Amino acid sequence: MRLVVVSNRVTIPDRHEKATAGGLAVALREALEKHGGLWFGWSGVVGAARQVREMQRGNVTYAVTDLSEAERESYYLGFSNRALWPIMHYRLGLTEFQRDDYMGYLGVNRRFARELSAMLRPDDVIWIHDYHLIPLAAELRRRGVTNRIGYFHHIPWPSADTLTALPFSATLVRTLAAYDLVGMQTAPDVRNLVDCLVTMCGAVSDGRRVRLGVRETAVQAFPIGIDVEAFRRLASASVRQAATPLRATRESLGERKLVIGVDRLDYSKGIVQRLEAFGQFLRSHPDERGRVGLLQIAPPSRSAVPEYAELDRMSDEVAGRLNAQLGEFDWTPIRVVKKAYSRTALAGFYRRAQVGLVTPMRDGMNLVAKEYVAAQNPADPGVLVLSRFAGAAQQLSEALIVNPYDTHEVAEAIRTALAMPKSERIRRFELLYGAIENSGIHWWTQRYLDALTGSRAPDEAAELPPKAKAPPKRGSRKTDPAGPERGEGTGRAPGGARKRSAASDDGSHLTLVR
Ligand code: F6P
Repeated sequence: MRLVVVSNRVTIPDRHEKATAGGLAVALREALEKHGGLWFGWSGVVGAARQVREMQRGNVTYAVTDLSEAERESYYLGFSNRALWPIMHYRLGLTEFQRDDYMGYLGVNRRFARELSAMLRPDDVIWIHDYHLIPLAAELRRRGVTNRIGYFHHIPWPSADTLTALPFSATLVRTLAAYDLVGMQTAPDVRNLVDCLVTMCGAVSDGRRVRLGVRETAVQAFPIGIDVEAFRRLASASVRQAATPLRATRESLGERKLVIGVDRLDYSKGIVQRLEAFGQFLRSHPDERGRVGLLQIAPPSRSAVPEYAELDRMSDEVAGRLNAQLGEFDWTPIRVVKKAYSRTALAGFYRRAQVGLVTPMRDGMNLVAKEYVAAQNPADPGVLVLSRFAGAAQQLSEALIVNPYDTHEVAEAIRTALAMPKSERIRRFELLYGAIENSGIHWWTQRYLDALTGSRAPDEAAELPPKAKAPPKRGSRKTDPAGPERGEGTGRAPGGARKRSAASDDGSHLTLVR
């Protein structure tokens, strides 16, 4: 078998890239290297040249194509990011539908299908990612492709009531029947999608398999994870090396505590609401003023979409107002930094922060939550405050779970996190670490591919992950060379209690027959 991965953007690895590439990109590359493979998608370039360019790296072929300006406008900025993105994140008020955009979206999917089908071999297994490419399998089938094709939806899937507001949504949802396997992040996403297929398209389903016409599609939850061990090592290394941004943060913070948020500058991430919640925390607890700061790292994203430009302006305005109202001559409560940092630097920031504030208004999974946990010093871990509307909340129930729409609740969770006794922080950390280690990125890739290739039945493939190994010993030099930099002592061996991950969330209790 050869693996073919298709995603909206494709980044061709260069020599230095290993340190900066995210866990998903690295895991997919590893899967491609293992099976020999092809990665196809947009080069990220907008230009006139539209032929496919192929590059070989080891036994992986990267095949990329540029978009024309009109395609970027309609397919990427328009239908994908002004219609699908907001509606999938339950933001009907921000959803803007234009027929021309939808036509452009279908056109790019048709073109990708034409270009990709010319490169396919009979033994290829095709794995398509993300909402930009929902109709790609249907277009490939139309061209006679009979290979196994899977889709993974990285973002939330809303209820049928919400999705029907989008014109042509039933036609779009129906195209999912061209896949053999559709993977979702969580069980609620599976339920919503199955319900959409049943109520909007007339499919028949038992909750796990959906029959539409002659095709049968498996729909299953595969909660995505991170490479926990690799990220933990990055965090330890960043402390040892005292990487520059981290050293500078230490110097500028002194003894002050740090609350951290890291997100693309996207309205789904709840950045403005989070800044307001931090302001509320400082107003409700004046004793904390001058003792703690919020660092929000927010690299700009999709800035050609007006809603993102507006968020850029609003976040500056809110941070400026709160700093002016609450700051002192020698203390700035909130720092918003709109640039990207290396993964090593991020791991170091997470480890330095006493609180990880991950409060999206809605999120498919949210890997920052998992990275924050992985980066902690087991001897003196920080506390994760997590939105109940992030897919990660299904697995990370030992975080302080909050409703991001409730500013006071988030403010009180920050207070609780900062005041939490060490024993309680360690207890929660060990359970959280067990959960993320139990369902890491390699487990995810393998389970998905097993289900897609049929080497395991889909239901079985999403069974409980293997029993977790113990998290690294607190302060042990072998496993955590940085040692207990925030705490004292080397700590006892971690307790054996392990929480089973919600990776078993497979929607199995749902029976829908129509
Ligand atoms: O899953 C959401 C997603 O589309 C990712 O695939 C992507 O890495 C991220 O959002 C950023 O999006 P964009 O490619 O639009 O910058």
